[in-house]
Amino acid sequence: MAYFRWQTAYETGIAKIDEQHRQLVDYLNQLYDAMQAGKGKDALEKVFRGLAAYTQSHFAAEEGLMKLYRFPEYEDHKATHEKMAAHVRKLEQDFKDGNIHSPLQITNFLKDWLAKHIMDTDQKYAPFLKAKGVV
Ligand SMILES: [Fe+2]
Repeated sequence: MAYFRWQTAYETGIAKIDEQHRQLVDYLNQLYDAMQAGKGKDALEKVFRGLAAYTQSHFAAEEGLMKLYRFPEYEDHKATHEKMAAHVRKLEQDFKDGNIHSPLQITNFLKDWLAKHIMDTDQKYAPFLKAKGVV
């Protein structure tokens, strides 16, 4: 069974966003699997780098849509993204520096954050954007 299973509750109903969220879930599963398989630091770092980069571009895509349609809570949502992006960058650096001794802590943290963010914060813009015709 996958470590992080996609749930229908995660769906925003906006195809592009749902696709990116699924990709993030997939990345996290790849990272977890690589850890479980006892892959070396270099391999894990590579997956982590991919996950971090994808997270950045996904946040930018969401922010672009919110800004384009003048979502009233744009600034708050963006601030949440920035905080998370900074945290991920720090985790990535700590990992690189060998300061993380329990990689599972990373995946658990990312999984919890992502599930909560997708189910709460992202669901706030979904009806707004859909009402503007975003599909
Ligand atoms: Fe978001």
